[in-house]
Amino acid sequence: MNNTLMDSLLQELCPDGIWQLSDLIKSILRRQISNLPMGNVSKDEIRYPKSPAAMRVYLIRFFSRHYFQTQNNLFKYITSQDFYNTIRLGRLRILEVGSGPAITSLAITDMLVRLLEHLEDIGEWPKGKSVEVDYILNDTCSLCLGTGKHMLANYFQNHHGYNRKVVRGQIISMQKDFPDNLSQLQRIRSNIGKYDITTFSHALLPMIEGKGFKNIVLGLFNVEKLCNFNGRILILEDRFRAELVQQISRAIGISYNFEKIVQQIYPKRNMSEIFTYSHYSSLYIPTQKMMIRQNSIA
Ligand SMILES: C[S@@+](CC[C@H](N)C(=O)[O-])C[C@H]1O[C@@H](n2cnc3c(N)ncnc32)[C@H](O)[C@@H]1O
Repeated sequence: MNNTLMDSLLQELCPDGIWQLSDLIKSILRRQISNLPMGNVSKDEIRYPKSPAAMRVYLIRFFSRHYFQTQNNLFKYITSQDFYNTIRLGRLRILEVGSGPAITSLAITDMLVRLLEHLEDIGEWPKGKSVEVDYILNDTCSLCLGTGKHMLANYFQNHHGYNRKVVRGQIISMQKDFPDNLSQLQRIRSNIGKYDITTFSHALLPMIEGKGFKNIVLGLFNVEKLCNFNGRILILEDRFRAELVQQISRAIGISYNFEKIVQQIYPKRNMSEIFTYSHYSSLYIPTQKMMIRQNSIA
């Protein structure tokens, strides 16, 4: 895709180098937060929310952070020929493992909506042509799956006019833990096709704690076989997880980046509105095990 398109899309998502949520996503997030109760929650509960009060704090603290990390790391892929070749067939399948409230699915969907608008504006996308997106959300926590499904449904229901170029396909939620769910993931793949984008966002640590390092590594290898050869697997991890990221990347043969991104905090808190967060990321082509080297976009 041409540089002008990339520049104007990036300027919309990340004006002057500061990542920002769209009004649409802000309203969905605000509504979700306001429907959840306030309450005392421990540090551990906030990281892995299982109660409505913990989910409220999780969304306030982590939604925008994980959302921008996803967009920052996938921006080059979303504007690549590989991605265009996928969406021009009219379908996109997103697999989110350890999905929590489906933040990466929302980040990808909103970026796709804006991409198609830009492509249509410059005559590179046929008017009226849409892309149907299927979501496969996997989490052991039912509240996370419910919240993710709800936010995605809200996105499509309430803003039909705005996102008419992106159509909601199936939203499949799966509560069985990864990687014990591989046969289910395989079955879904046989029904709907290979996964185009697979994300493991801040999910490897609890998975390793629950299932063991070897099983998760094996699971990562097996998931690759279910992915589209044009697709990508994205791993995101906290900046405190250097050792974990090194171990995983050595075990599966990928490299990783340390990224710093500047973002507008949302919802606003009692601090500066602009903040810089850092994180680790790996983005690779499943079939080629090739790391896509990229520095932070902004
Ligand atoms: C820190 S949260 C990350 C949520 C979301 N991906 C994000 O980026 O905000 C980690 C999630 O992984 C889920 N999880 C833990 N072990 C899992 C497993 N074996 N299979 C699937 N999900 C798991 C937890 O329930 C939790 O919702």
